[in-house]
Amino acid sequence: MSQDYLPLRKHLYIDGEWVEAGEYRPLLSPYSGETIAEVAFAGAAEVERAIAAAERAKPLMARMPAHERAAILERLSALLRERAEECAGLIALEAAKPLKTARQEVDRTIMTYKFAAEEARRIHGETIPMDAAPGGEGRIAYTIRQPIGVVAAITPFNFPMNLVAHKVGPAIAAGNTIVLKPAGQTPLTALLIAELLQEAGLPAGALNVVTGSGSVIGDLLVQDDRVKAVTFTGSPEVGKAIRQKAGLKKVTLELGSNSALIVDQGVDVDAMIARAVTGAFSNAGQVCISLQRIYVHERLFDEFVRKFVAQTETLKLGDPLDPATDVSALISPRDAERALQWITEAEQLGAVVAAGHKRDGHIVHPTILLHVDPGAKVSCQEAFAPVVMINKVSTMEEAIREVNASRFGLQAGIYTEDIRTAFAAAEALEVGGVMINDIPTFRVDHMPYGGVKESGTGREGVKYAIEDMTELKLVCFKK
Ligand code: SIN
Repeated sequence: MSQDYLPLRKHLYIDGEWVEAGEYRPLLSPYSGETIAEVAFAGAAEVERAIAAAERAKPLMARMPAHERAAILERLSALLRERAEECAGLIALEAAKPLKTARQEVDRTIMTYKFAAEEARRIHGETIPMDAAPGGEGRIAYTIRQPIGVVAAITPFNFPMNLVAHKVGPAIAAGNTIVLKPAGQTPLTALLIAELLQEAGLPAGALNVVTGSGSVIGDLLVQDDRVKAVTFTGSPEVGKAIRQKAGLKKVTLELGSNSALIVDQGVDVDAMIARAVTGAFSNAGQVCISLQRIYVHERLFDEFVRKFVAQTETLKLGDPLDPATDVSALISPRDAERALQWITEAEQLGAVVAAGHKRDGHIVHPTILLHVDPGAKVSCQEAFAPVVMINKVSTMEEAIREVNASRFGLQAGIYTEDIRTAFAAAEALEVGGVMINDIPTFRVDHMPYGGVKESGTGREGVKYAIEDMTELKLVCFKK
């Protein structure tokens, strides 16, 4: 296919080279629908080439001293800083993420690679008191962490740079090699990272980027015996399929959620309302920890709803490349259609629409639903859209029960002035992370991040990801 008019023609990145593919497909802007690039669509032969390159580079990366791995990651961070504005523009273009949110993502990406550089220097084991068990006397033992080998990283569209960083950063820090399959809608930023890592001095074959069909490339990577670990962020359905096909590989899964916030009586609503609105509508709700369900104490309910609606009305909808925009298009017209169907379903089940339930082109207006039936999809499934529900509760016990009545458990938040309620919630909420006096959407990049139930297995946050990307080996000396 020859389409010279296209602004960008992006090849595969294999073994340190830009490799032409047999097929290219147009990449459309989710906001305008215009073609923004044509991108390689890898077949089985190209995936094989990428895995083989990663396998060949394995000994070199495994032998590379920690300070060199750290230096490569530090150089990458510096290059990203120099090209930060370009990166933010690319994220806005390919993902329709508003520029101001895209800039925050770039800042976080720089930080994630810095954390990876720091962690590369402190991957260590521990000494084991062998004589704690009868028969262990006369032995000295310690553990070391060794690189696992080839890591397959499959990443989503919603944080196209930083969620790549959460896989590529720890993998390099640990001395592994990688085959990266970025989301079909957001390959451009992933390919830019390959370019910058090459400039930063990463050896050929240590990172390979294959773009194309998620299921075809994903299946080839997940089922290949040379791949020793799979790290995936995406839907629970795909996550479960990966686990079934991965055999004995280590598998880290960051899956979905319908994250919830509890608001107790006595809370200063004015002090937290802007943050709650940001949690619900940032990146049009396309965040795994987006605030989707809010349970408010009956004494505050009316005030909370009034102020939440008023704050939501200040959001600016529009072009992701406009620096003033807060909410832009969903990733695909199909997702916009689905979101509207789910809102309609909630209304049919008795919900009251307090704002939104409209669409302008590919932008779904921030939608607030009240008194939502727990069986409605906007309550019990992951919306991944600018939709939030607010329900009234009489007690904190009831609120905790509602939050826990979910197939997901990634993060939850609770605002309360009562220390006993805070501790009770921290203990009882069935999630991977509890935010006291904050929204569930809070994340910094070194904290452990991951879920329970259908929200996944394993933890990211560079240090924790490295644990899944290394093998723990015991060395025992007999005196
Ligand atoms: C995610 O959507 O899983 C990532 C959220 C974040 O990094 O803030």
